[in-house]
Amino acid sequence: MKNSIQLQNMKTEGEKISMLTAYDYPSAKIAEEAGIDMILVGDSLGMVVLGYESTIQVSLDDMIHHGKAVAKGARDTFIVIDMPFMSYHISLEDSLTNAKKMFQETNAHALKVEGASEEILTLISRLKSGGIPVIAHLGLTPQSVNVLGGYRVQGKDKETAQQLINDAKALERSGAIGLVIECVPKQLAKLVTKELTIPTIGIGAGVECDGQVLVLHDVLQYGIDRLPKFVKTYDDANSSFTEAIKTYVKEVKDGTFPAENHSFTMNIDN
Ligand code: KIV
Ligand code: NA
Repeated sequence: MKNSIQLQNMKTEGEKISMLTAYDYPSAKIAEEAGIDMILVGDSLGMVVLGYESTIQVSLDDMIHHGKAVAKGARDTFIVIDMPFMSYHISLEDSLTNAKKMFQETNAHALKVEGASEEILTLISRLKSGGIPVIAHLGLTPQSVNVLGGYRVQGKDKETAQQLINDAKALERSGAIGLVIECVPKQLAKLVTKELTIPTIGIGAGVECDGQVLVLHDVLQYGIDRLPKFVKTYDDANSSFTEAIKTYVKEVKDGTFPAENHSFTMNIDN
């Protein structure tokens, strides 16, 4: 299993970091068997698995429930888990309590939080000193979609780009062990990656990041109808699963399933 030091070394040595989301036992098991460097139990859970409208409905209990299953499926992979909406904004004390609960109950190796406010910076350094590594997340931060005014590319002009660079540096100083950068121009992601000593993991942020992350259901096209520009799909589970189930239905209807070899017999003649 990669640990946070090895992930850091991968940046130094120029080896790209592969990260993918997983939300349950089988998806974690498959991701691990496929050789992924890091698993993210993302709060994208809400949309791709639970059918919610956005990540805003995702609860601490949802995350813990799924995080536990992921940890059981991938015992030998570095697992990061998202702190969900408003679970780290009410007060520092509540945030620390929620973080402790998530970390202890799921067996994840790091937490991820969005943004770079003073409160977030303090939280990251407090968690680090308590022994909980944190990955930061900048650019398009979906938990703030209603403040950002939609899911759109961030840091396109000079001013917001500079702000993002400053935020990234502040996050590194506060002790973040890595930074997810979502939906920013590739030039900006490249600059941030150069400026930081901690690894950057991009999604919709170009090829110059130290690693890449995607949502499993997007990669497999599983239950997903519309894909953002930055996603590449590597399979078509929607089609292959539907075909498989259609064939099963047909075989039940026409009596070709179960066949002799799927059936048990008694130890008597006739
Ligand atoms: O929740 C998620 O899947 C994420 C990634 C897209 C970075 O935060
Ligand atoms: Na997320």
